[in-house]
Amino acid sequence: MKVYNFSAGPSMLPEEVKLSAQKNFLDYEGSGMSVTEMSHRSKWYDAIHMEALASLRELLNISDDYEVLFVQGGASQQFDAVPLNLLQNGKADYIVTGNFSGKAEKFARKYGDIAIAASSKDKNFTYIPEGVKFRDGIDYVHICKNNTIFGTRYTDRTFPKTDAVVVADHSSSILSEVIDVNQYGLIYAGAQKNIAPAGVTIVIVRKDLIGKESPNCPTMLAYKTQADAQSLFNTPPCFAIYMAMLVFRHLKKLGGIKAIQEINEYKAGLLYDFIDNSSLYTNSVNHADRSIMNVPFVTGSDELNAKFIKEAEKAGLVSIKGHKLVGGMRASIYNAMPVEGVKALIEFMKKFELENK
Ligand SMILES: Cc1ncc(COP(=O)(O)O)c(C=O)c1O
Repeated sequence: MKVYNFSAGPSMLPEEVKLSAQKNFLDYEGSGMSVTEMSHRSKWYDAIHMEALASLRELLNISDDYEVLFVQGGASQQFDAVPLNLLQNGKADYIVTGNFSGKAEKFARKYGDIAIAASSKDKNFTYIPEGVKFRDGIDYVHICKNNTIFGTRYTDRTFPKTDAVVVADHSSSILSEVIDVNQYGLIYAGAQKNIAPAGVTIVIVRKDLIGKESPNCPTMLAYKTQADAQSLFNTPPCFAIYMAMLVFRHLKKLGGIKAIQEINEYKAGLLYDFIDNSSLYTNSVNHADRSIMNVPFVTGSDELNAKFIKEAEKAGLVSIKGHKLVGGMRASIYNAMPVEGVKALIEFMKKFELENK
């Protein structure tokens, strides 16, 4: 049975990418081996790795002022790696707009004078704070670009206005919309939503911020370690990077990030319009801060939410249960979710509404 997978991550991958990986699984390009088996020092893997690095640079228009790293440990590992690498004066400000930015701030407290510059907890993280002021002498400001659980995202209006280095968790928005990398000192993102299977984490870091890690920073967490070795210091997650390379190829063929952003805005627009005009479903996020990747919504009761989730699953609309911190439903509509998937969800929602009036 074909399903549409609305999981917040790991999540859908493009059909074309999975077919290509399947076709080449047993014998990659005449090597007689699977990518899962070959040495990370082989000529075949080297070509995959270098293409993945170059394609990501091309897609995000990353200048030579930045290093692109493939690391492990998930986005969560960056909650420690960022302060260990970037705290020079021992001071950083965090904006807490949800669960993950809250964790990032808590992890960082071990390493220095960390302050919460603003938080949207007062309204259960349904908005992004605007016009936030930061302390003097900070090493960086940390934000989470898209809040996977609460369904909010930063736009130009809310992006921190500061001369300090901006560090951002892009785990659930990377490659979904055009960004100006030059606005950031560092971007990190786990791959398992818009890029590849779990296992690889992307770090894009300005070169002048590398090599200043604390003396206590574990060698494997120091950006310099992988930057000096083109992310081949040790065995990388080869298969995840191979899948990322295929996804990057696919995105380039589609027309790049601008093209996928248009599709994403169209998909999210369809869903929000439907929710806003329905008498059963609501999404309580401030409209201007709504995510185009994660769309949480509820019916009027927990009982009806549970029924919705159960019946949606039977109709092939899977993993739509909201995170426990929010309840209800959440449709994660990352790059690989086809427009038909969103339309199928809306049709199901219409039918469910009629049947449960
Ligand atoms: C915004 C954000 N940051 C961090 C994480 C944690 O990522 P990981 O599981 O790769 O450590 C997630 C996971 O869903 C996320 O959505």
